[in-house]
Amino acid sequence: MFLHSKEDKDLCEQLICFPGKLLLGLVGNRSRDCFITSLRHSSCQTAFLVCFQLKFVLWSGYFLKKQRSCRYLCLAIPVPSTRVYISRRSLGMAAAFVKGKCRRINWLLCHCNKNKSSGSLGSETSLAFHRKPKTGILMLNMGGPERLDDVHDFLLRLFLDRDLMTLPAQNQLAPLIAKRRTPKIQEQYSRIGGGSPIKKWTAVQGEGMVKLLDSMSPHTAPHKYYIGFRYVHPLTEEAIADMERDGIERAVAFTQYPQYSCSTTGSSLNAIYRYYNEKGEKPKMKWSIIDRWPTHPLLIQCFADHIQKELNLFPPDKRKEVVILFSAHSLPMSVVNRGDPYPQEVGATVQRVMEKLNYSNPYRLVWQSKVGPMPWLGPQTDETIKGLCQRGKRNMLLVPIAFTSDHIETLYELDIEYAQVLASECGVENIRRAESLNGNPLFSKALADLVCSHLQSNEVCSRQLTLCCPLCVNPVCRESKAFFSSQPL
Ligand code: FES
Repeated sequence: MFLHSKEDKDLCEQLICFPGKLLLGLVGNRSRDCFITSLRHSSCQTAFLVCFQLKFVLWSGYFLKKQRSCRYLCLAIPVPSTRVYISRRSLGMAAAFVKGKCRRINWLLCHCNKNKSSGSLGSETSLAFHRKPKTGILMLNMGGPERLDDVHDFLLRLFLDRDLMTLPAQNQLAPLIAKRRTPKIQEQYSRIGGGSPIKKWTAVQGEGMVKLLDSMSPHTAPHKYYIGFRYVHPLTEEAIADMERDGIERAVAFTQYPQYSCSTTGSSLNAIYRYYNEKGEKPKMKWSIIDRWPTHPLLIQCFADHIQKELNLFPPDKRKEVVILFSAHSLPMSVVNRGDPYPQEVGATVQRVMEKLNYSNPYRLVWQSKVGPMPWLGPQTDETIKGLCQRGKRNMLLVPIAFTSDHIETLYELDIEYAQVLASECGVENIRRAESLNGNPLFSKALADLVCSHLQSNEVCSRQLTLCCPLCVNPVCRESKAFFSSQPL
């Protein structure tokens, strides 16, 4: 028998007809594996079509080599939704083997022009099958308002977040602060095109990641990404509800902040814990966490590439003296002093990036976005730019090192406030900003690699996550860590 596992044999015995079994005996191992996987997750006829598609792609590739302008037929089944492309010649044969419900098949005609389908099998085999996802990857981030009208609610959620900050009479004070700050922040967003691009970039990165993951880790496929923002839609809670509804078996909470802080990643993890705690329910999915990845080699490579690309745009005689300013969002000293690991992890990223660049330039790690009168971690990015100019260092490169996608702190604070206004005030000669990682395909590969190794490791979280800040006073942190540590994998 061509199938090895008893489970697979039983499955086929129950579901497929005699000609189907014969056919399955003739196809290669790859098609057979794909058929079985598909059969486990979907209906019999979908599985057959997946199998047929793989087989006929080979025939079609041959056929195309001979007749380059061949037309292809696209076969689409509405439920479960699967789209396969097969040649006209193969189509009749495929249909003959599909058991039942043939009337539900819609036939659509599509054309493959000879450039696209010049006999290469790659374009055909990369077609997507929309099947029930098995592994859900929840991409956690703070998010940003997509429209000016979203700014108020974004600020309100942010000031209400007790994991991020504690204010006296927070429930009363937060709406007042949000209301007062809304016009100023709206003005900043209007200067960068009317909204934050973070959702757009997260979707691009998520698409790239799951596409790679399906081939890197077929036993956990299909993978689906979900966006869980802390302060704008889609909110973390909405994403979890979607994942539960989709019947995800294995859920990975994947922070999109490479360096861990209790104010960012910690806040998102606490939100997941609160979701279940407030509902009084246990998760149906098995949860695990990628809670930090400050020195992942592909992340470091991406930063180094973006820095090198920007350095090359400085005048050649100035290039060596450019000061690289790695800029990260600052933290109140009260957070740093309770033992938050963020400053150390940002430093680790900086060190690895400079190592990759062979320490080609002088550099500093600086901190931006301080608000309020209380002491924050420094030196501040703007004060550093001024100070360097006063000391005759007038060529500099700004590198956002703690956020991977563009957001208000890169597009407005670094690009407009510092690189345009401040730089011209204090006589900077050349100042540039390294591009954020945004749609860089190598970055999607980094994300896929992180998830793939995490799934293989079968670990719930990093060891580092199990330790609370030595001076933590937030009881939810402990409960949240206990919740994740008890997840049965
Ligand atoms: S504030 Fe860091 S663990 Fe609670």
